[in-house]
Amino acid sequence: MTSFWTEENVKSTLPKRETSAHKGTYGTGLLLAGSEDMPGAALLSGLGAMRSGIGKLEIGTVEEVIPYVVPILPEATYLRNGLQKTAEDNVDLDKYKAIAAGPGLEPVEETEKAIHQLLKLDCPVLLDAGALSERSYKKRQSPVILTPHPGEFSKITGVDVKELQQNRPHLASVWAKKLGVTIVLKGNETICAFPNGEVWANPTGNSALAKGGTGDTLTGMMLGMLCCHKDWKHAVLNAVYLHGACADKWSEKRSAHTMLAHELTELLPEVWKRFE
Ligand code: APR
Ligand code: MG
Repeated sequence: MTSFWTEENVKSTLPKRETSAHKGTYGTGLLLAGSEDMPGAALLSGLGAMRSGIGKLEIGTVEEVIPYVVPILPEATYLRNGLQKTAEDNVDLDKYKAIAAGPGLEPVEETEKAIHQLLKLDCPVLLDAGALSERSYKKRQSPVILTPHPGEFSKITGVDVKELQQNRPHLASVWAKKLGVTIVLKGNETICAFPNGEVWANPTGNSALAKGGTGDTLTGMMLGMLCCHKDWKHAVLNAVYLHGACADKWSEKRSAHTMLAHELTELLPEVWKRFE
């Protein structure tokens, strides 16, 4: 039986915001997200990150997307055409505390080249959506975290979706060990499988999350949490837990049919407070 990551686990591992903290205390995160046809992904994941304890956020996105994000998230700064610059090894990425890539990115050669560069760094790297592909991972000091939904898991491993859904904890764990990465297998009872064999199931969340954009929000939240947690594993588990808890909060008073992804980040401040 796989254990659930519980309310008590969350309460004992969420970081305090230190009295003497300044924005440098929590570090700068880089988010490579958003493209011409999927500009909203940069915004959804950006909101998730900035609501989740990060010190500073830089969004690496295409020039056209920036004017859409600024009015709603004026707190972020930009690495203009960041995916291209990363793919061309044309930017210094050493200053970032953690990096997330994938929401609203196309799985094309430029993305693959950029990921190759990210994996040379020694900060936590989170890969989602367009940044997920079938590849191997060299051993590195800092974690690599993949956040596939079942279809993406199937794409990167070749495992049939039906077979996967019948044995989620086991198969997530097998592949986390095989690839040497952390796998967050999304869906009802999201599984967090670590490369050392540790596996947790998430008890929060509901079908209000079954709508485009909620995965992008999770990626952003996890980036923010990687910046403010001391233990990166706690960041992964707490991001998944609180993301689900926001949807549960929504469903207390409102229909699960009606939630929008950006509303998760509006609920997060109150939901997070309950666990502090
Ligand atoms: N119960 C609990 N949680 C759920 C449920 C459910 N029934 N359904 C979905 N979720 C959660 C997942 O666990 C995950 O955290 O909602 C989130 C959905 O994430 P994704 O599947 O990544 O969805 P998202 O990325 O927002 O969808 C947009 O993703 O695959 C790409 O291009 C594809 O357009 C799609 C895009
Ligand atoms: Mg997704």
